[in-house]
Amino acid sequence: MKTIDLRSDTVTLPTPAMREAIYRAELGDDVFGEDPTVKRLEEMAAKRMGKEAALLVVSGTMANLVCVLTHCRRGEEIILGDRSHTFLYEAGGVSAVGGIHPHTLPNQPDGTMRPEDIEAAIRGDNVHFPRTRLICLENTHNRCDGSPLTPEYTKSVAELAHKRGLRVHLDGARIFNAAVAQGLDVTALTRDVDSVSFCLSKGLSAPVGSLVCGSREFVAEARRNRKVLGGGMRQCGIIAAAGIVALEQMVDRLAEDHQNAQRLAEGIARMPGLSIDLERVQTNIIYFDLAGGRLSAGALVTRLADKGVKILQVAPARVRAVTHYGITAEDIELTLTALSRVMSES
Ligand SMILES: Cc1ncc(COP(=O)(O)O)c(C=O)c1O
Repeated sequence: MKTIDLRSDTVTLPTPAMREAIYRAELGDDVFGEDPTVKRLEEMAAKRMGKEAALLVVSGTMANLVCVLTHCRRGEEIILGDRSHTFLYEAGGVSAVGGIHPHTLPNQPDGTMRPEDIEAAIRGDNVHFPRTRLICLENTHNRCDGSPLTPEYTKSVAELAHKRGLRVHLDGARIFNAAVAQGLDVTALTRDVDSVSFCLSKGLSAPVGSLVCGSREFVAEARRNRKVLGGGMRQCGIIAAAGIVALEQMVDRLAEDHQNAQRLAEGIARMPGLSIDLERVQTNIIYFDLAGGRLSAGALVTRLADKGVKILQVAPARVRAVTHYGITAEDIELTLTALSRVMSES
């Protein structure tokens, strides 16, 4: 039986072109700055993001941690959303490793934090308070239905931050999804922030790796912090080679994932016993709810898996499905048929 794995876009496997590029990659010791393939990827990434420099790291989690460590000193505070990946799913690294104080604000359903909440959260100069140093945004916003932040919102937060002497980091794990969904060049979403991280290993299908991008000075310091975390990698041109293919070949096709997510969401909206907010579906991540208490999310996940479709439970009555490279329009039809069978059998 064929498996349709919609748990995450991190399950994507490298494309044949990536495997070929990995095989042929020219390598060197990157901790000595001698891996030409890594250098090429870092230059490409910096250019794509409209920043001076970039640094290859192992994961999105390490990218965010390296950025926060580079912006902040121990005892300083970051403002971030209460549904942000950095707050929820990065093992508390900013406090555990950096001694940095997270100040969470409510994420709105569209992934934003309200500017007035941010303004009110910025600390004054008082010996009792931690010093506010950084505001973290996430685009697209994973736990807020994969919502893309707009250039206007990003700019307004950056203006507010810079006026108060703060910096802005953007967790752009899926920044290309945000750009493609809004028909924008990605720099429209990155130009106002001080640092941006993005992942190669999600919708772009590379096996490993994320990039940290910012000013030359910022990236030089980030390189030191990557080393502190044990993230200096030797012949990592092996990873970078696939990343180059990801940037060259895998960005525009994200539109197909968004169309498939839309198709899936529309089918779910028609299905008795399930509910979904169609207006929230704009990229490749959809969340939907089990209505009426007939079936738990856990039972739905298990019964669907028995029919060859994997999705993720995120709450007792809520599940997530993510479209990605390797999932076709036909797979979406098969998923809807399987879902409809599970719902009618329960
Ligand atoms: C928004 C966001 N940021 C960061 C990460 C972390 O990436 P990684 O799994 O590579 O550590 C993820 C992973 O899903 C994510 O969704």
